[in-house]
Amino acid sequence: MFDLDRFIEDCRAAIGADPTHKAVREVVARAVSDPAAVLAGLGEPNRAEVETLYHAPELTILNVVWAPRMTIMPHNHLIWAVIGVYTGREDNIFWRRVPGAEGGRIEAAGAKSLGERDAEPLGRDIIHSVTNPVSRLTGAIHVYGGDFFAVSRSEWDPETLHEGRYDLEKNMRAFEEANASFLRA
Ligand SMILES: [Fe+2]
Repeated sequence: MFDLDRFIEDCRAAIGADPTHKAVREVVARAVSDPAAVLAGLGEPNRAEVETLYHAPELTILNVVWAPRMTIMPHNHLIWAVIGVYTGREDNIFWRRVPGAEGGRIEAAGAKSLGERDAEPLGRDIIHSVTNPVSRLTGAIHVYGGDFFAVSRSEWDPETLHEGRYDLEKNMRAFEEANASFLRA
């Protein structure tokens, strides 16, 4: 059984023992190794949303539910993250800055497709965009080694690939806008 309070305590203890992502990755990997238990513990996803499960200066835990085929533009976090998928799939494109490029332009550098039971660490300087490639909701636990909502960071225009200031409100709104068509269907 996945117990949320226990999971939060385990993550807190993990960063207490090791402030890098390594110990937390073990905690997340253990949780998503039993996707049915996570679904029972968090509830079956029924709409796209970013649900805050825990929020503190040194640790943020989110339940991120992606609408079918939803894509979020390239962005960085400037804190490490661990993503554990418990239902569906998250396709990540990883980007890198083009050295000396005007406008902070990025180029694609790699990709990783995460499915159920995958627990993937992202380094603090990672730039990624995320797509849910499947036709149903995807659910993942996202753990961040800091305050996800307070860090001033960047996003990149998906067409020009130029850097701008990350707009938290806009990104949260994207989940609601995705629901507008998803829930109507
Ligand atoms: Fe992200």
